[in-house]
Amino acid sequence: MEHKIEELIAKMSLEEKIGQLNQESIIADNERIEELKDLARQGKLGSCILAANGLAGDCEQEQFLIGELNELQRCAVEESPLGIPLIYGRDIIHGCRTIFPIPLAQAATWDYDLIRDAASIMSREASYDGVHWTFAPMLDICTDPRWGRIIECPGEDPLLGKMVAKASVDGIQGEDMSQPGKLAACAKHYIGYGASQAGRDKDPTEWSDYTMHNRALPAFEEAVDAGIATVMSAFNDISGQPATANKYYLTDVLRGKLGFDGYVVSDWAAIERLNCQGVSDNDLLSAALAINAGVDMDMFDGIYKNNLEQALIQGAVNMETIDEAVRRILRIKFRLGLFDRPYTEDVNTTGRVLTKEYLQKAKEMSAHSMVLLKNNGVLPLKKGEKVAVSGPYAEEKESLMGSWHASGEAKDVVSFFEGVQQVNGIENTLSDCNLAEQSDVCLVALGEDWMITGEGKTMPNIELPEEQVAAIQQAKKLGKKVVAVFLAGRPLAFGDIVEECDAILWAWHGGTMCGLAAAEILFGDFNPCGKLPVTFPRYTGQIPIHYNHNRNEYVLSGYYEHHPYVSTVGDSTPLYAFGEGLSYTEFVYDNFRCNKTDTAFEITFDIHNKGKFDGFEIAQCYIQDVVASMARPIKELKAFQKIYIKQGETKTVTMRLTREDLSFYDGRGNKVFEPGDFKLEIGTSSRHSCFTITEYLDFR
Ligand code: NOJ
Repeated sequence: MEHKIEELIAKMSLEEKIGQLNQESIIADNERIEELKDLARQGKLGSCILAANGLAGDCEQEQFLIGELNELQRCAVEESPLGIPLIYGRDIIHGCRTIFPIPLAQAATWDYDLIRDAASIMSREASYDGVHWTFAPMLDICTDPRWGRIIECPGEDPLLGKMVAKASVDGIQGEDMSQPGKLAACAKHYIGYGASQAGRDKDPTEWSDYTMHNRALPAFEEAVDAGIATVMSAFNDISGQPATANKYYLTDVLRGKLGFDGYVVSDWAAIERLNCQGVSDNDLLSAALAINAGVDMDMFDGIYKNNLEQALIQGAVNMETIDEAVRRILRIKFRLGLFDRPYTEDVNTTGRVLTKEYLQKAKEMSAHSMVLLKNNGVLPLKKGEKVAVSGPYAEEKESLMGSWHASGEAKDVVSFFEGVQQVNGIENTLSDCNLAEQSDVCLVALGEDWMITGEGKTMPNIELPEEQVAAIQQAKKLGKKVVAVFLAGRPLAFGDIVEECDAILWAWHGGTMCGLAAAEILFGDFNPCGKLPVTFPRYTGQIPIHYNHNRNEYVLSGYYEHHPYVSTVGDSTPLYAFGEGLSYTEFVYDNFRCNKTDTAFEITFDIHNKGKFDGFEIAQCYIQDVVASMARPIKELKAFQKIYIKQGETKTVTMRLTREDLSFYDGRGNKVFEPGDFKLEIGTSSRHSCFTITEYLDFR
């Protein structure tokens, strides 16, 4: 392959080389189609993004006609001088036709297999539409729920981020991405986009290299290790250095340290926007800054297409840099098998998408992602019990798919009300809490509209709207049992209503099958097992809030006890902590044993299921580096296991920590292991530990 690539590069004109770096937008019934075909014939087009604008997550997308895409491909393959195929990309983020829970909810499953399987299904569905490449997974670590894009990310924890990265790449690309139904994946947004200030989308990020390496980088590192084909450069700047012109992160770190050999695509018009960021006042300079930093493909704005030749003549860019970018892009086109199979077969997708099997998987994942936050014993409900379903999201469908729902259609979604009807019977399910006189329980569907989540969306505060608080209070006044079901993308601060609710289920924007999955949990068909991948604050003023913040004098024994002065306005602890989530059964941990070898420290323990339900438990292992050369987090998740335990059964679990797990990046981007005391903790969440030990560890 490398030989073929060199042969091609040797034959390519400069225009053709620049053409490979050029990605244009294509939409169904495109007015520009003739222009695009001409570009393809001349070899001046390398890729198309199937999106109408930069906020594709908000758009209803027309179905693409395979014939149109194949015809454009034909112009490139059969009519251009070298016949290099185009690569078509689209944002297939958490489903194509079958919509799975939003990525943040997927992280709440803590389940590699489920995330891999969902990624694999969405890729297969998208492949029927002619898509070769998806702009997923999004791997931004985020601690600010005001940011609309928190819904797309794996949460606040680097280890969970790594798991999501690997599962997504494995699911999207498989072992060989040239196989049918597989796509090239794209790790985004590199880097630090999830830490934009105050959750304002595209605002600067002020994370030091130390924080960036320890928090933002690990998930990308894992994606690279898993063989990810592409990476997308982010919109934000990092302490003044735009991510899209950032040679240190794009080249020294990504390629030099992590060994990435695929290509980097800019985010939508991010090269043009170097102007807005004020590091450039002309497009030629922007092109030079981006390509010299390591951005290989230019998404949408035509800055490379229109400026690279001149930049080369002026000496702002050299030929070797352009050749290297072309080389990386061709490598992925070869790996994808596009040279052998450039066309998409036009198959009838009926019976191939939204299949029973896919819907079943979507329901399973949705159920696993849901987090039971409170239960005073009312749940599970008895089937046949009269329930009233109310609240602004009871009959909602579209929002359940969340932002970036690709070709998902509201008509395919099971609403919460429909889900309850299916599980509990139409005759036992009333449509309004005002009818609660005749019911035993009020189920109140709260949450948020999908249109206030996603790209370009920032909430000034995340408190629950008054009318939603009122909906709970009204239900409570009726003197019935009250169960709140939240259908939301981001954590919301709903401390005011916790007391009024007998139970709270966090069901997220859980995809096509969300309503049914939630109902099955409420009525005991499925025992909830999701655990929070992000901290839920009590009020907006606590943001940014995350369990793994660096130690300081206010951190006394565990999670947030800092800022005692905050107590004048409220409790400084989180409403719900990272890793929390209840079950209908009771898991008891005991019999802890430790074993130290030259290369690892192992903690083995038993978990008994002492309750009346079978179920999954997610056991977590945290460490604290007691004395280090840098301030380290209060605690860091270093291992976890999701285990299925039948009622009455006991399972033995072993968590293993190695030198790698106990290492961290110093301020200069070097990974260091500092022997010394480590506090090790086994718990059911970041706030509830069952076993703690401090050990001196010095591993090879
Ligand atoms: C902008 C978004 O930031 C990115 O995530 C997405 O992949 C591109 N637009 C393409 O739609």
